Amino acid sequence: MSTTSALFAGLMSGTSLDGVDAVVADFAAPHPRVASTAFLAYPADLRDALLALNAAGHDELRRAAELSVRLASLYAEATLAALRNGGLAANDIAALGCHGQTVRHQPALGYSLQLNHPALLAERTGITVVADFRNRDVAAGGQGAPLVPAFHDCILRDDGEHRVVLNIGGISNITDLAPGKPTRGFDTGPGNMLLDGWAARHLGTPYDAGGEWGAQGQVVPDLLKRLMAHPFLAQAAPKSCGREEFNLDWLDAQLDRGIAAVEVQATLLELTARSIVEATLRECGQPDTLAVCGGGVHNAPLMGRLAALLPDTRVVSTADFGVSPDFLEALAFAWLARRCLHGEPGNLPEVTGARGPRVLGAIYPA
Ligand SMILES: Nc1ncnc2c1ncn2[C@@H]1O[C@H](COP(=O)(O)OP(=O)(O)O)[C@@H](O)[C@H]1O
Ligand SMILES: [Mg+2]
Repeated sequence: MSTTSALFAGLMSGTSLDGVDAVVADFAAPHPRVASTAFLAYPADLRDALLALNAAGHDELRRAAELSVRLASLYAEATLAALRNGGLAANDIAALGCHGQTVRHQPALGYSLQLNHPALLAERTGITVVADFRNRDVAAGGQGAPLVPAFHDCILRDDGEHRVVLNIGGISNITDLAPGKPTRGFDTGPGNMLLDGWAARHLGTPYDAGGEWGAQGQVVPDLLKRLMAHPFLAQAAPKSCGREEFNLDWLDAQLDRGIAAVEVQATLLELTARSIVEATLRECGQPDTLAVCGGGVHNAPLMGRLAALLPDTRVVSTADFGVSPDFLEALAFAWLARRCLHGEPGNLPEVTGARGPRVLGAIYPA
């Protein structure tokens, strides 16, 4: 590995279970420059196997171990693709930050579990791997999530305007960047996860492309009211959530007979937009700009509802600030790997609720 290189790689595979985002970034300048990217979609059987492991089931340990091996192979493939796309070699890269695939997130019980096999990833790529970013924060009494706000603070803070960064992944999380105030952040609740699950059940596709199906339905007010009553949504920050809180079993329990599937999808979209906006206004006040990243940015009706619910806020993609919305989180894990190697804290205690700043991650040398 290169111990002096400013090039770091990052891998993100989030709760949406869509696949793995890979990025190589140059941290030589104050603002990181993306050198190359790659995305590998999860094959349908891998997504199904990971989804199944999010709930209790038979022979979990073997399944988890075998999936970790399979994931590490895919992570290596994505990393090598990003290197190829940038004309780079493994020894150009100082380290690779790999988030892993969350299957259980239970900070109140003392753990957050990401499937990963960092030793195998180091072996396959020849790059030093930094992994297990969340558990040190959890051990220090924090939520272990979200971890991206520290990076948002680093690249998107502006003295002249109140910005909120919104990441719409499987779960949605926001970062409050108010001039003169400490950075705050938390999970707001569902992002794409329920929309994806419902689309998979009724369309047989991993997601509702462009949000077009949901846009044909009408919101069902009674159902929306029941969904908005989920206790997580009213909780004060710091807070984080996962598939434990929001899943199709929970949704099924809220449904009345006779509601058409397309109306449920429209209502889920409204739930996602409203829960984000209500949490933003309650915890951050009204921002000048809402900078959106994550796959939800491609759901035009969802972006439209956010803009309509925040008429005095400029709602834009982070692309407007020169940062690809699809690779911002992977970039954050490249940055977190660099922080770890330099012995610098990666968490913000105000965000996660940890007792103090901590160096996050475990290092697997190349
Ligand atoms: N063209 C699109 N139309 C609608 N939704 C999209 C589109 N592209 C991506 N998405 C949504 O974004 C999700 C992936 O977002 P991502 O930011 O990778 O989430 P995570 O971090 O949880 O993996 C997909 O599952 C899907 O819901
Ligand atoms: Mg993803």
